[in-house]
Amino acid sequence: MTHILIVYGTTDGHTAKVTQVLAEDLRALRCSVDIVDSAGMIHRLSPEGYDGVIVAASVHIGDYQRSVARWARTHAAMLNHMPTAFLSVCLAVLEQNAKTRREVANILERFFARTGWRPPIAKPIAGAVRYTRYGWLKRLMMKRIVGKAGGGTDTTRDYEYTDWNDLRAFAGEFARQVTTTEAIAGGVR
Ligand SMILES: Cc1cc2nc3c(=O)[nH]c(=O)nc-3n(C[C@H](O)[C@H](O)[C@H](O)COP(=O)(O)O)c2cc1C
Repeated sequence: MTHILIVYGTTDGHTAKVTQVLAEDLRALRCSVDIVDSAGMIHRLSPEGYDGVIVAASVHIGDYQRSVARWARTHAAMLNHMPTAFLSVCLAVLEQNAKTRREVANILERFFARTGWRPPIAKPIAGAVRYTRYGWLKRLMMKRIVGKAGGGTDTTRDYEYTDWNDLRAFAGEFARQVTTTEAIAGGVR
């Protein structure tokens, strides 16, 4: 069986949901999956023994959760030699213009430079606006930002922009790559 580790960082909870759905998709493909929240005691958690690792984090004011960056930096040497992917959960990906695309790419590049980990797959994932969970100031700020980007501004409800079918397709592709790498390594041994 293929063993996959998912490490995630979340501030408002949506990335946790993304990784839960991803884990279900991978388990349906006969992978065994461990999911770990980077906010917990993860400094001792090693990628060793896993066949593949997926890290997911959300963007808040141009950066990811520090705990995710710390973990990736600690294990960069090992991560760079195994099948890995990074999922960047954000809202900027919804804006289809050159300036925003550059911003998304710059946020990713800063993360890779800071951690020393260069995953072969880096995938932006559209996140959510959880107005009902924000305090009044965050709600007001988000309404203004999301409104400008053409997103939903009814603050009595939440908006989910994640493309779950696309996430399932990613799960299939990642599981296939990990299984292929495992088979090649098995052949070499
Ligand atoms: C205070 C705040 C700041 C944010 N800043 C950014 C940002 O700089 N760029 C972006 O693309 N999305 C930004 N977002 C959108 C989040 O990435 C999105 O809501 C995501 O789904 C949050 O995931 P989480 O619930 O796992 O924390 C921001 C959201 C909040 C609430």
